[in-house]
Amino acid sequence: TSPDVIRNFCIIAHIDHGKSTLADRMLQLTGVVQPRDMKAQYLDRMDIERERGITIKSQAVRMPWELDDTTYAFHMIDTPGHVDFSYEVSRSLAACEGALLLVDAAQGIEAQTLANLYLAMEHDLAIIPVLNKIDLPAAMPDKYAEELAHLIGCEPEDVLRVSGKTGEGVEALLDRIVQEIPPPEGDADAPARAMIFDSVYDTYRGVVTFVRVVDGSLGHREKIQMMSTGATHELLEIGVSQPEPEATKGLGVGEVGYLITGVKDVRQSRVGDTVTSQNRPADEIIGGYEDPRPMVFSGLFPIDGSDFPVLREALEKLQLNDAALNFEPETSTALGFGFRVGFLGLLHLEITRERLEQEYNLELISTAPNVVYQVTDEAGETHEVTNPSEFPEGKIAEIREPVVDATVIVPAEFIGAVMELCQSRRGQMEGMDYLSEERVEIRYKMPLAEIVFDFFDQLKSKTKGYASLNWQGTGEQEADLVKVDILLQGDKVDAFSAITHRDHAYSYGVKMASKLKDLIPRQQFEVPIQAAIGSRIIARENIRAIRKDVLSKCYGGDISRKRKLLEKQKEGKKRMKMVGTVEVPQEAFIAALSSD
Ligand code: GTP
Repeated sequence: TSPDVIRNFCIIAHIDHGKSTLADRMLQLTGVVQPRDMKAQYLDRMDIERERGITIKSQAVRMPWELDDTTYAFHMIDTPGHVDFSYEVSRSLAACEGALLLVDAAQGIEAQTLANLYLAMEHDLAIIPVLNKIDLPAAMPDKYAEELAHLIGCEPEDVLRVSGKTGEGVEALLDRIVQEIPPPEGDADAPARAMIFDSVYDTYRGVVTFVRVVDGSLGHREKIQMMSTGATHELLEIGVSQPEPEATKGLGVGEVGYLITGVKDVRQSRVGDTVTSQNRPADEIIGGYEDPRPMVFSGLFPIDGSDFPVLREALEKLQLNDAALNFEPETSTALGFGFRVGFLGLLHLEITRERLEQEYNLELISTAPNVVYQVTDEAGETHEVTNPSEFPEGKIAEIREPVVDATVIVPAEFIGAVMELCQSRRGQMEGMDYLSEERVEIRYKMPLAEIVFDFFDQLKSKTKGYASLNWQGTGEQEADLVKVDILLQGDKVDAFSAITHRDHAYSYGVKMASKLKDLIPRQQFEVPIQAAIGSRIIARENIRAIRKDVLSKCYGGDISRKRKLLEKQKEGKKRMKMVGTVEVPQEAFIAALSSD
């Protein structure tokens, strides 16, 4: 296909503004999906995606569109909407010349609209502003067209109005794509260079890699090379998705399609990497490649210790399709054998955990998530700490923690509430802009640790659900952090150790100690529960002793009753874990670790 008739674009939108629905409608109008095959959210393939209604993995679809007697080839690249996956968004944008900026006509611009718009502008994309859901009674297209025009510097009349649901305005939108998005440019005679913007594992076909050809071409049976690793593979299949895969002879300049090489692990075909041909390799990798870097770590332990091998296998399988997932074995005295798992963010953690539980039937305990700290000890040695147990003992010279630039968009009446919340999370205000008379963008610099946990929930509840949030890592800062340990009868319970800001250490200690006091049954001796920073005790509770001789309850000789009681006690024991000399029921760990 000649580059002149190719249009590569993506749809960028805040979560739930209707990207998938609009994509579905385009598939239908261009005729690539027959109405009878249409199911809602055709492109969201993973079950879990459909269940949660979010797009995790981007997909690329080729569609024909005719205008003025010319047939154009559109490649629509679907991008994930959540901030945890922003690196994938950025790679998807890099594969396009244009973007549809989609905004819900009843909601207006939200934080991710802005974040994605800024990304699109960094990639120099042509931007087509679109208001969606104009069929909604609550839609205010005039008002938001004004807002959108103001934001990107166009006239309100240039803002398209569509409904992905009814299809209204979508044909006009397809025409605008031809007119306003420039065709791809590239050197057809240069050595081949194609950028990987997605890579998914398929049980039958192995890894399917989605690429955008920048220069040259790739052909069936050709030997290709991954430029970041030098690994070579043979192209067993090359083709385009329409949206079902269709093999072709090859892909040329500006084309978007998929490659299959038979590799079984997405880490061999990483998002952002450049594919070239082995015979005539290119010199320069396409810019912007980054290794996926986990931001949040948590310990995952099977409730039933004998499930450990199943958990290992399940994680290995998930990793085939998730280059950002990373794990290593971890042993906890309290929880037994498990894994320390690194995630891109909390949503990534939740999704992974849910998949492990649903698809592999595992019951899991996860420890409180934490971010990565750089801890320098007195000797000047710096440790990367992803687990409280790695926190160096003794004097600490410096601790650095990751920080982010956070953007919150809210109706002006909530400015005070947002500032109060951000301040309480050690935020530093960076600026504030009015998007319109009643909506503001508030910018804060905040520690990542303060934002990844329940910040978003708090923000939502303090703003009646109106606030939207986006954030982006910007580096590290020095922080006054300590490790708080929880001790049962003088023995450290590793699963409950946490790294917190010095100001929150006391409340963490008190909360854990009092939770455990209620959760751990009385033993035959008194059990002190202590919270400590190093050797300094900061909180203490006591579980009083009882004489727990169940048989004393049976008078005389009812032997069957006695046996029953003994059996019951044995069963109870099975679910107990020993911490030093203290028996702790499994449920106590689960309850204490679940956030409240
Ligand atoms: P993510 O993939 O999670 O980012 O969501 P999305 O942006 O793809 O949104 P999706 O298409 O899943 O739509 C979100 C909700 O809005 C769904 O309940 C849709 O049915 C609804 N919706 C989408 N488009 C329209 C529209 O044009 N009109 C109306 N009334 N509802 C719509």
